[in-house]
Amino acid sequence: MAMKYLETIMTESVLRAQHHYYGHAAKITDAPERDLLGEGEAEFLAARDSFYLGTVSETGWPYVQHRGGPRGFLRLLNPSTLVFADYQGNRQLLSTGNLSVDNRVSLFLMDYPNRARLKILGHARVEDGRLHPDLAAQLANPAMKARVERIVFIDVLSFDWNCPKYITPRYSLEEVEELAGSLKACITELEAELRTLKTRSGS
Ligand SMILES: Cc1cc2nc3c(=O)[nH]c(=O)nc-3n(C[C@H](O)[C@H](O)[C@H](O)COP(=O)(O)O)c2cc1C
Repeated sequence: MAMKYLETIMTESVLRAQHHYYGHAAKITDAPERDLLGEGEAEFLAARDSFYLGTVSETGWPYVQHRGGPRGFLRLLNPSTLVFADYQGNRQLLSTGNLSVDNRVSLFLMDYPNRARLKILGHARVEDGRLHPDLAAQLANPAMKARVERIVFIDVLSFDWNCPKYITPRYSLEEVEELAGSLKACITELEAELRTLKTRSGS
């Protein structure tokens, strides 16, 4: 467990709630300054094709947006920096506006087939894509014609994994097709055999 995550998120009100319901509170002390993402997290991130990005509005409302792209589009630049491309989109700029007044972000990443979820806390910086043409070109989704308008850099504070309980395994079309690949090959082989047998028997 990455202790900085719990130390950060277990505020006084959370501790009071724990005390109220369980008679004691699990206050975390001596957490490191930050927790670096390791190999397990890097592997998990490289396989993700979506995540949820939580920001805080200037009036204190929580705001969550879905982000999607090719696997690994949320790129790990180094053990404490994540980046992703932001496109012109619907021109609402909700996350961008929120981040200009409060740079704290909460990322939520799901792996449904393997029933795993990773939560990440960090501070985000939004920069004009034109200032980083090489990185913008690397991060751009080849399936999208849209220009990389902004690049979001996330300075990772910490992360936490949750248990698999209650996660229903779900599969994307790509994953279903991958799983069905061997079955399809088997069916094609059997059909060919059947055709040969029918030809031989004259039916
Ligand atoms: C042409 C085009 C391409 C887009 N490509 C992506 C994309 O690859 N990934 C993604 O999550 N959203 C994509 N979007 C959606 C926008 O980026 C979306 O409006 C943005 O996530 C809204 O963010 P906000 O709620 O913070 O304002 C695209 C939108 C348009 C119009």
